[in-house]
Amino acid sequence: MGTTSSALVMLFALFFIARLEFICSSTNSNVSCIASEREALMKIKGNLTDEANRLSSWVGKDCCTWKGVGCSNKTGHVVKLDLRNRFPRPSWSFSANFSNFEMNKLIGQVCPSLLDLNHLHYLDLSMNDMQISNSLGSLKSLRYLDLSGSIFNATIPHHLGNLSRLQYLNLSNNYLRGPIPDTLGRLTSLTVLDLSSNNFNDSMLYPLCNLSSLVHIDLSRTSHRGAIPHCLGNLASLSILRLKTNYLQGPIPSEMGNMTQLKELDLSLNVFQGPIPSEMGNMTQLTELDLSSNAFACEIPNSMRNLCNLRVLDLSNNMFTGKL
Ligand SMILES: *[C@@H]1O[C@H](CO)[C@@H](O)[C@H](O)[C@H]1NC(C)=O
Ligand SMILES: *[C@@H]1O[C@H](CO)[C@@H](O)[C@H](O)[C@H]1NC(C)=O
Ligand SMILES: *[C@@H]1O[C@H](CO)[C@@H](O)[C@H](O)[C@H]1NC(C)=O
Ligand SMILES: *[C@@H]1O[C@H](CO)[C@@H](O)[C@H](O)[C@H]1NC(C)=O
Ligand SMILES: *[C@@H]1O[C@H](CO)[C@@H](O)[C@H](O)[C@H]1NC(C)=O
Ligand SMILES: *[C@@H]1O[C@H](CO)[C@@H](O)[C@H](O)[C@H]1NC(C)=O
Ligand SMILES: *[C@@H]1O[C@H](CO)[C@@H](O)[C@H](O)[C@H]1NC(C)=O
Ligand SMILES: *[C@@H]1O[C@H](CO)[C@@H](O)[C@H](O)[C@H]1NC(C)=O
Ligand SMILES: *[C@@H]1O[C@H](CO)[C@@H](O)[C@H](O)[C@H]1NC(C)=O
Ligand SMILES: *[C@@H]1O[C@H](CO)[C@@H](O)[C@H](O)[C@H]1NC(C)=O
Ligand SMILES: *[C@@H]1O[C@H](CO)[C@@H](O)[C@H](O)[C@H]1NC(C)=O
Repeated sequence: MGTTSSALVMLFALFFIARLEFICSSTNSNVSCIASEREALMKIKGNLTDEANRLSSWVGKDCCTWKGVGCSNKTGHVVKLDLRNRFPRPSWSFSANFSNFEMNKLIGQVCPSLLDLNHLHYLDLSMNDMQISNSLGSLKSLRYLDLSGSIFNATIPHHLGNLSRLQYLNLSNNYLRGPIPDTLGRLTSLTVLDLSSNNFNDSMLYPLCNLSSLVHIDLSRTSHRGAIPHCLGNLASLSILRLKTNYLQGPIPSEMGNMTQLKELDLSLNVFQGPIPSEMGNMTQLTELDLSSNAFACEIPNSMRNLCNLRVLDLSNNMFTGKL
């Protein structure tokens, strides 16, 4: 090789290293907002009525500094959008200040540009009056989705089943109707599921049986009828299970004894008759057990003496027989 060509190779290598350094240092420094994502946010803002001026910081170039917007330090993409109204909707279980809620809610149609923010990990639109007709199922990176108290008077959209990375889903305090769609059974990364205070008139719990990562389920006040499916015992990682205030009936399936990590079990205000399986004595981590206001007319199994971590036990308003 001649000296000229080896010098050229050197020069090229140096140039290459310099470029690499340039790329690396630009990822370390302050990355500011990506223009197309700023556009998307501006469109979202433009379609919302914001009486309390909550989005007044949404001006200027660097959307990463806007209130409620978070960007990745590495890529600059918008990864977080938090438009939660801190004043909760006064409904169902809340005793909140109505005028504060009204004043601070965002109103309007969430425009399709939301889907341009396709690196979002975290989306919280709760406690507003937004119509969300977008197919959120295409926001494939989502880990956290909170649409609680957003009056979504509809059924749970099937496309949510495409959010395979979702870990937290909160749809509580909406006026959701109809069944829990089968596609929810595909959210296998889910650890927290709150569907409380809805009106699933025609509900089936089976889709939940596949969600073996779940640690927290709240299905209180959801108009659920019928029996607890045996397969719910598959949810062996579950720590909190709330089924309060429904029309659930029949026995407690013995498979629930497999939920050995359970700390809180609330079956109150239903129409369970029993029997209570002796396997419940295997739930040795239980600290709170509420079976009150049901139609239990059975004995409490001796095995339940194993539950020595119990701090709260409510058996009131039943017809239990035998000795405790
Ligand atoms: C980022 O920008 C801010 C203000 O513009 C500055 O104070 C800070 O030092 C910068 N950080 C880095 C890592 O460059
Ligand atoms: C981004 O970097 C800042 C400063 O280094 C740090 O405080 C912040 O937690 C980082 N954010 C994320 C999302 O990693
Ligand atoms: C609600 O909050 C507003 C403003 O803070 C206050 O003026 C009003 O009295 C409160 N209403 C109630 C019922 O507490
Ligand atoms: C958003 O606002 C624009 C301009 O006001 C309007 O033309 C458009 O229909 C709105 N889109 C939605 C989805 O509401
Ligand atoms: C969601 O998945 C279904 C297949 O189960 C597919 O037909 C649909 O197009 C997907 N939707 C989105 C928004 O990705
Ligand atoms: C929900 O929608 C149904 C039918 O579209 C309507 O009859 C009902 O009044 C709505 N409920 C609320 C709370 O908006
Ligand atoms: C779901 O949202 C409601 C209302 O915002 C909140 O009270 C509740 O704690 C949330 N559930 C979970 C499990 O985080
Ligand atoms: C549940 O609600 C849907 C629509 O709101 C209705 O068509 C259906 O008949 C209802 N089912 C029951 C069992 O009430
Ligand atoms: C549970 O998962 C299996 C296989 O992964 C699938 O065949 C089945 O349909 C799923 N069941 C529900 C209720 O989603
Ligand atoms: C769950 O419990 C049932 C009956 O109590 C038992 O037959 C079954 O083997 C258990 N399943 C697992 C996966 O532990
Ligand atoms: C669960 O409880 C039943 C009945 O009390 C017992 O026979 C069984 O061995 C227990 N299973 C485990 C895994 O502890």
